[in-house]
Amino acid sequence: ISQTGVTPPPMGWASWNSFASSIDHDVIKQQADALVSSGMADAGYKYVNLDDGWWQGDRDANGNIVVDENLFPGGMKAMADYIHSKGLKAGIYTDAGKQGCGYYYPTTRPAAPGTGMEGHYQQDLQTFQSWGFDYVKIDWCGGRVEGLDQETQYKQIAAANEAASAVTGRKLVLSFCEWGTGLPWNWATGYGDLWRTSGDVILWGQKPTTAMMLTNFDQGLQPAAQHTGSYNDPDMLMTGMSGLSAAQNRLHMGLWAISGAPLLAGNNLASMSTETRDILTNRDMIAIDQDPRGLQGVKVAEDTRNLQVYGKVLSGTGKRAVLLLNRTGSAASMTVRWADLGLTSATASVRNVWTGTDVGSVGTGYTTTVPANDAVLLTVSGTEASGTTVEDTTAAAT
Ligand code: GLA
Repeated sequence: ISQTGVTPPPMGWASWNSFASSIDHDVIKQQADALVSSGMADAGYKYVNLDDGWWQGDRDANGNIVVDENLFPGGMKAMADYIHSKGLKAGIYTDAGKQGCGYYYPTTRPAAPGTGMEGHYQQDLQTFQSWGFDYVKIDWCGGRVEGLDQETQYKQIAAANEAASAVTGRKLVLSFCEWGTGLPWNWATGYGDLWRTSGDVILWGQKPTTAMMLTNFDQGLQPAAQHTGSYNDPDMLMTGMSGLSAAQNRLHMGLWAISGAPLLAGNNLASMSTETRDILTNRDMIAIDQDPRGLQGVKVAEDTRNLQVYGKVLSGTGKRAVLLLNRTGSAASMTVRWADLGLTSATASVRNVWTGTDVGSVGTGYTTTVPANDAVLLTVSGTEASGTTVEDTTAAAT
């Protein structure tokens, strides 16, 4: 009932991974500016999402949430207006219970734990809409502490978004963040636009690792629930955060793109390298992620344990994205067979996304070497089989 008609998975930047609760008007302004000046906005990254840390921790006599005006002089409407002035869209953060999560993450400026929006669903959503926000992430720390039921609360929030929008004329994209605890892939379609499928990809203060990406990738694959406008969310990106190599950054994007995941960069855009910028803005990778058919990839072959082939059906006829994922500690020769992708052609043409090279027309399948704990991302174009295809699996329950 509440989907806003966001068609492809949302793309943008979110404040949490690099700034935790230490956000203010100037930090967000700087990142919005960098989103544009880096070329990321042109590549499709449009949302600037404020995460935890913007509120003061109280409500006024009318129950309205109080903004920390030391951090946001001029208030949140001024913040949203600034983001919009750059041609971007604005996101904000709340919780389905009475408190947010910032309390659990000590930073130089810890967020006030209260007030999440329980008891004020329509009031707060109407406030966010009237400030001009386009998107809201609804966390679950309060909900968890109080033992609330995920499905009940998030459905009420979706209804409140509708009711508020009847007043303001504006609807928020709803990003559910209950970490997969209530199995949202079974009930969130039609209520949320995207829903987290797992815990945080990285906890504040940790060093990013490949294992973190793979854990959230695995939990994020719920292909029966995903279709255009309804997205499993394996969490914000760590790409470009200190401690990751270029290969790890490419692996991260390959995993998220084959998943058709939201692409919400979490690195500090004002100080990113050209190499990171180029990885985030790779046009072929983005096209795979944003494909209008809106499906997730599925594992189509695993001939040897931990050498996995994922295929994602793309729009058009006979088009696939492929991720050859080597989860072993040694380089390995890996093959994707056209038959495993539901393609019947004797040959198919192959493009390597990260090298940007057309491999050309190849018979039966394509074999290449994949480094240890890494992946190769391809697009493949062949002839569609009649009968069972990968899409039958991915779209089964939609
Ligand atoms: C939870 C969420 C994170 C982030 C923090 C903010 O951990 O899962 O994505 O929003 O809260 O405190």
